[in-house]
Amino acid sequence: MNSITVAQCLQLAQELESLSDSARLDIELLLCHILQKNRTYLFTWPDKILSPEQAEDFLQFFNRRKSGEPIAHILGQREFWSLPLAVNNSTLIPRPDTELLVELVLELFAEDSVQQHRTCLDLGTGTGAIVLAIASEKPQWQLVGVDKSADVVALAEKNRRALQFAQVQIRQSDWFSAISAQQFDVIVSNPPYIDPQDPHLDQGDVRFEPRSALIADKHGLADIELIVQQGWNYLCEQGWLLLEHGYDQGQAVRDLFTARGFVQVQTRTDLGGNERVTFGRKGESV
Ligand SMILES: C[S@@+](CC[C@H](N)C(=O)[O-])C[C@H]1O[C@@H](n2cnc3c(N)ncnc32)[C@H](O)[C@@H]1O
Repeated sequence: MNSITVAQCLQLAQELESLSDSARLDIELLLCHILQKNRTYLFTWPDKILSPEQAEDFLQFFNRRKSGEPIAHILGQREFWSLPLAVNNSTLIPRPDTELLVELVLELFAEDSVQQHRTCLDLGTGTGAIVLAIASEKPQWQLVGVDKSADVVALAEKNRRALQFAQVQIRQSDWFSAISAQQFDVIVSNPPYIDPQDPHLDQGDVRFEPRSALIADKHGLADIELIVQQGWNYLCEQGWLLLEHGYDQGQAVRDLFTARGFVQVQTRTDLGGNERVTFGRKGESV
């Protein structure tokens, strides 16, 4: 094939604009991966000619992106909480909005001393994004991440090993089925919460993510309801439950928390100003 420069590759962003809000960034990320350089290099060396192998890889990646495949799947990686995580099509690609869950956990336990020992359970851990991010901030905590799918558990375990977080256990579990009688100071989850009829399921990156990670019955609330109901039994007294949910599910989720007996129930908004995480504390037993 003919030689191609970094600048010519970047110009191809125009061809992605109808399908991606971040066309230019997408191309930059592909080039950084192929050249094994950072973005500054691309601006400093626009006339750099890609080797024939690099050019072939670039065009292959570019065509995959053009057919709609998410950048994270093409690169096999996505950053979350500044941690590089392996991703694949067995689960959700971690979203920046989910970092709110991690921020809230840190906020709720901000008064703890540095040595304070705590336990944390992450339900539907996916890549391990949430549990590994919390572990990176709280090295003295004991944490468990569970997922229903064996392929997803293998992915989360791969990420756990790569980051060398010995205080995190990854287990296969259908929600609480493999948890036995353990109780936790905090339970977090970003469960499937999209209504199966939602037309957005046929648009953009979610087309490449499994329905098992996205949809739930009862207009998206079935798994949230189960976790609120059963989660109570797996929390220590005064423990916290934090759940991510859809932008229009805040009131319904607060109602579920309150009906189950949780106190100090609140919802926080995400980067886009949408209600995104509801949390509450286990009060007196009902
Ligand atoms: C929305 S994804 C969240 C993944 C990850 N926590 C994140 O925030 O990026 C939901 C995850 O829940 C898992 N899941 C679905 N049903 C489950 C169940 N019954 N028990 C455990 N995990 C389940 C899916 O496999 C998927 O990995």
